[in-house]
Amino acid sequence: MKVLVIMGSPRKGNTYRAAKKIEESMRSMGNVEFEYLMLKDADLSQCSGCFVCFIKGENHCPHKDDASVIEQKMHAADGVIFATPVYGMNVSALMKTFIDRFSYIFHRPRFFDKKALLLSTTGALGLKEVFDYLKLVAGVWGFEVVHSVGLVTPPMQISNKKEQENNQKLEKAAFVFYNALQKKRRSPGLRDVFIFHAQKASFGELGQNSPADYTYWKEKGWLSPKAKYYVDVRVNPVYNAIGWISEQMLKRKMRKDLVELQK
Ligand SMILES: Cc1cc2nc3c(=O)[nH]c(=O)nc-3n(C[C@H](O)[C@H](O)[C@H](O)COP(=O)(O)O)c2cc1C
Repeated sequence: MKVLVIMGSPRKGNTYRAAKKIEESMRSMGNVEFEYLMLKDADLSQCSGCFVCFIKGENHCPHKDDASVIEQKMHAADGVIFATPVYGMNVSALMKTFIDRFSYIFHRPRFFDKKALLLSTTGALGLKEVFDYLKLVAGVWGFEVVHSVGLVTPPMQISNKKEQENNQKLEKAAFVFYNALQKKRRSPGLRDVFIFHAQKASFGELGQNSPADYTYWKEKGWLSPKAKYYVDVRVNPVYNAIGWISEQMLKRKMRKDLVELQK
């Protein structure tokens, strides 16, 4: 099993040490290979906001750097740990740049056979904001987010009790992640199903106004009236009905908006 750690701290500090402990625990459970992608060392420029990846496709991005190599690393892994310290009440700038550069994946999701673990450390605050945000990002990209582990690691020495608690949290995270990596994808929640139908309505209706997205969705078969989700998993029929109704409403609204635009 391969695990890729995407490290959003600019140093080998609290977050890195926490990831190493997860690695140690997971290694004691079975055959796991770890790779660390230190974003601080990666050749990944800031997004320049040209929209080319959305409209024409990511291969047309003007930045000739390691973005595609990094995407390949995610494809090669069975599980990805998104690791970031809390900076300014949310993810670090390194993590945010990474997410911005892969924003086309929000439109053209792909990591449905992968599991994600979220890891963050903080002086005091911000873990909820980080996890809410990363859960949405990784989830829309296609990952099944199986767990999040947050540690309070203030700059001063922490008590033995606090340290023990942190170690227990990391061991639990390693256990949950290791077990999730052995299992098949679980059935999607209501939010996941809703996002699928909302995107289906948007990209289907936008058509050639958003050609890279439309082609991707069409080729995947996701625009078919029968498509219930991105992958072949059981979808709760109530969630499916809610998703379907929302899709029809959104389609109608988009058609109206597009007609208005052409006037
Ligand atoms: C630039 C910067 C911003 C930070 N912002 C916050 C913050 O908003 N809230 C907080 O509780 N801690 C904050 N911290 C503390 C870090 O979240 C904490 O020390 C974290 O464990 C650092 O992880 P690292 O050693 O992996 O970089 C900040 C630290 C730095 C350097």
